[in-house]
Amino acid sequence: MTTAPSTYRVPLPETLVELLGKRVVDLPAAELDRGLLREEASGAYDRVRAESPEAQIVVRRCRDLLNDPEGDGFAVIEVGPLLDRYGLDEGQQIATLLLSWLGRPLRAFDKWPLWKPLGTNLTIDPMRATGSGYNPLHIDVVNATEPPDYSALLCVRPDPRGEGYSIVSQLRRAVDRLSDGERAFLAEPVFRDGAFYDLTGVGKEYDPFPVLDGLLAPEGFVRFTAKMLPDMDPREPHTSAVRALERELIAEQQKFLLGFGDLIIVNQHLCVHGREALGRGQDEVPEEQRRLLWQMFLRTAGADAR
Ligand SMILES: [Fe+2]
Repeated sequence: MTTAPSTYRVPLPETLVELLGKRVVDLPAAELDRGLLREEASGAYDRVRAESPEAQIVVRRCRDLLNDPEGDGFAVIEVGPLLDRYGLDEGQQIATLLLSWLGRPLRAFDKWPLWKPLGTNLTIDPMRATGSGYNPLHIDVVNATEPPDYSALLCVRPDPRGEGYSIVSQLRRAVDRLSDGERAFLAEPVFRDGAFYDLTGVGKEYDPFPVLDGLLAPEGFVRFTAKMLPDMDPREPHTSAVRALERELIAEQQKFLLGFGDLIIVNQHLCVHGREALGRGQDEVPEEQRRLLWQMFLRTAGADAR
């Protein structure tokens, strides 16, 4: 069993865990306005950061890991001690507060709560986020004009069968390794992925979209998802270019398990994510014991630079 390397891990100092527990009881609930955390709440959460030098160190470290264009574009905050100490409900509230220091919490999916539970469903397509199979490398809400800037997953219950490795890979370096011809095909707006409905805060549907929009992070995206490949014509040069990019991403991917309380944040401008298959025999594991993650998004564009 391998968790994320310590280079990417951000532990929370014990005194900060204590402070967060004390402050959270008086903070406003995480109510939303047009899918984003209300200003009143984010202002109150930010005052907790402002009073704690340790919180500021945690934020700086996360920002360095997430935003360095030469870096890998992800970080794992260890919130297990918060969940252990304050329980899942209060722990979730504190996790929202922590994430609000990095960007504005964004729900995106109108029909779900701010934290979308991603359990393990054996009756749906195994490659989906809540499936049990290989979930290939992708960015979330790829077919939007404004995909979420960051995507966060909090592991509430790891796979009891010990698998379901998270995979991440740096997009920009993979694109740099392609040929000019492949990049030219990927810059054409001919790519499509799935449906687009009941979404707020991610702009408009982008259909068809280019994989390469010609912009660097933090503005641009590499709109990559390997999930579109099965529906593409294998004889087409655009398909070959997507496959070449997937090969480069897989060649350099990092793979690790999320433990209980691991909160992974991925900068979608720099990094793709996915999941390897869960362990065998999921049908023998009762549903309430199967792997469970909570998902939330963050909007950083236009957020005050601190
Ligand atoms: Fe995802």
